[in-house]
Amino acid sequence: MLETFKLRKFTPDDLQSVMQINRVCLPENYTDYFFMDLYERFPETFIVAEENGKIAGYIMCRVEVGLSNHGLGGLIRKGHVVSIAVMPQSRRKGVAQALINAALEGMRHYKAKLCYLEVRVTNDVGIALYKKLGFEVTRTLDGYYSDGENAYVMTKKL
Ligand code: ACO
Ligand code: ZN
Repeated sequence: MLETFKLRKFTPDDLQSVMQINRVCLPENYTDYFFMDLYERFPETFIVAEENGKIAGYIMCRVEVGLSNHGLGGLIRKGHVVSIAVMPQSRRKGVAQALINAALEGMRHYKAKLCYLEVRVTNDVGIALYKKLGFEVTRTLDGYYSDGENAYVMTKKL
């Protein structure tokens, strides 16, 4: 596909644009401190997509340490996609797919062994996107969202 967008790492100048996209696209919104904290700690996995010089989408992530879930114990690093969104007029052009693939590379840089995220059980588009990229549903979290909706945890090995 002809790519009309360009990926690059988030910089502090992008903060207002990214917060605006987050407000337009998702009910889960955060303080400027929250965005900047993720940028300062995990700059390799905070990526934006630019279309005609304007930011059209973002992904931001965190790397956590947790149990491997493979029975043998041991702690591993896990990349956690905290939030991803693409503006409505820029959708269905592969922007989200490219953002996730770039974030997965950033997670490998931080030596994460798997990637996971939560998604609303009714978010068919999100679920289809993650399945296309090889994520599988591994758990359901009852009442995860503030409005009471359940979340699927979806996971992909890195
Ligand atoms: N219907 C069905 N499948 C879809 C759709 C759709 N409308 N959109 C994307 N997909 C699936 C398809 O498999 C698609 O591949 P294809 O086009 O080759 O068929 C694949 O996802 C990749 O699509 P992209 O074009 O990369 O996705 P896009 O850039 O449009 O962004 C996103 C997808 C981020 C989910 C966008 O729709 C959005 O911002 N939605 C609102 C916010 C949101 O739901 N974010 C995720 C919440 S969960 C979290 O943040 C951890
Ligand atoms: Zn999460």
